Amino acid sequence: MPSRIAVLVSGQGSNLRALHAYFDAGPGAPDAAIALVASDNATCGAMAFARDAAIPVGVIARPEAAGMPLLALLQQYAIDLVVLAGYLRLVPAEAVRAYRGRMVNVHPALLPAFGGPGLHGERVHRAVLASGARVSGATVHFVDEEFDHGPCLAQWPVPVFPHDGTASLARRVLRVEHLLLPRAVHALARGAVRLDESGRVAAAWASLEPDLAFLLQDATDDAIALSLASALPG
Ligand code: GRF
Repeated sequence: MPSRIAVLVSGQGSNLRALHAYFDAGPGAPDAAIALVASDNATCGAMAFARDAAIPVGVIARPEAAGMPLLALLQQYAIDLVVLAGYLRLVPAEAVRAYRGRMVNVHPALLPAFGGPGLHGERVHRAVLASGARVSGATVHFVDEEFDHGPCLAQWPVPVFPHDGTASLARRVLRVEHLLLPRAVHALARGAVRLDESGRVAAAWASLEPDLAFLLQDATDDAIALSLASALPG
């Protein structure tokens, strides 16, 4: 039976759209399907997309607003895997515990740099530009009890150009997020990668697609050059 994915969102939902395209009728369809989109913000663009696409939606409780505790919502929909795609809140510890190794987040920089509380959206790219770093990128990591902190599952570097502003850098990073996130989630759903008992990411190399294999963990110089080349405009 396909894995049942919940996607947690707070924003415009471009990563949700990429996941939907990949798992609805794309290469991920036999192995997993989006069974729930949940948000702390019932009116964000991502929730509107989910309603239009007839995906079940849920509102996650906040102290100041109505909704359901996250873990109860995930259990109600019999969710196997949880994907944070632009979700801005800290995941409650009980949900992290219940879904350890089955919950991932996408972050628009190369963690462990440029992550943590308050570093989201445009602020991430501003910090990267202020640092003078020549490379940024996208990270998919397992979720633990801290913001942007758990073990990295996959990363994809992109160049930072001297003429970049936050908007151009954000666009370049988002493009690779849309490629990286669905493939990383697919690898997890198929059991090609997993979090082992000691908290390390274990990959069954033989069952990874070649394009994902080089993005995981120990990218060689050639692989980094290749992913840089594929991220360049034109
Ligand atoms: C992405 O850059 C993601 O990495 C970050 O928030 C942004 C969400 O964008 N966590 P979208 O809502 O998927 O378009």
